[in-house]
Amino acid sequence: MAIERTFSILKPDATRRNLTGKINAMIEGAGLRIVAQKRVHMTRAQAETFYAVHKDRPFYGELVDQMSAAPVVVQVLEGDNAIKRYRDVMGATNPEKAEPGTIRKECALNMGENSVHGSDAPETAAIEIAQWFSGNEIVG
Ligand code: CMP
Repeated sequence: MAIERTFSILKPDATRRNLTGKINAMIEGAGLRIVAQKRVHMTRAQAETFYAVHKDRPFYGELVDQMSAAPVVVQVLEGDNAIKRYRDVMGATNPEKAEPGTIRKECALNMGENSVHGSDAPETAAIEIAQWFSGNEIVG
């Protein structure tokens, strides 16, 4: 298996409820290593850029509002098959459909406030990591 990196966000609904440590323990328990991490308060413009792929979707405005409403924790995770491994431990986008033991099943409130984001492919992981981290901030 290939060592990969993926980009993660612990979203405002999670930081508000003080779930950073709980979610990080689930990430590490899934065999992923947190090789970069910082807490930031996204501006609207940063949230719009980050979610530009969804700009024509009906939920885009609410998504940008929610992501810029309170601090988030942005992370780079590293491990075997990290992109799929993280998506597996995150669980389905809709927490009602998430499997038991996943982050979204345990922590998410609803589809919008679903506690975590993870990249969906190597190309998006590279773009998302580069939006938030410079090379020397990532220590594997
Ligand atoms: P995320 O993985 O961050 O990517 C896009 C986000 O949009 C998603 O998680 C959800 O938080 C949010 N969202 C809100 N409504 C929907 C929807 N109907 N389908 C997909 N994503 C949605």
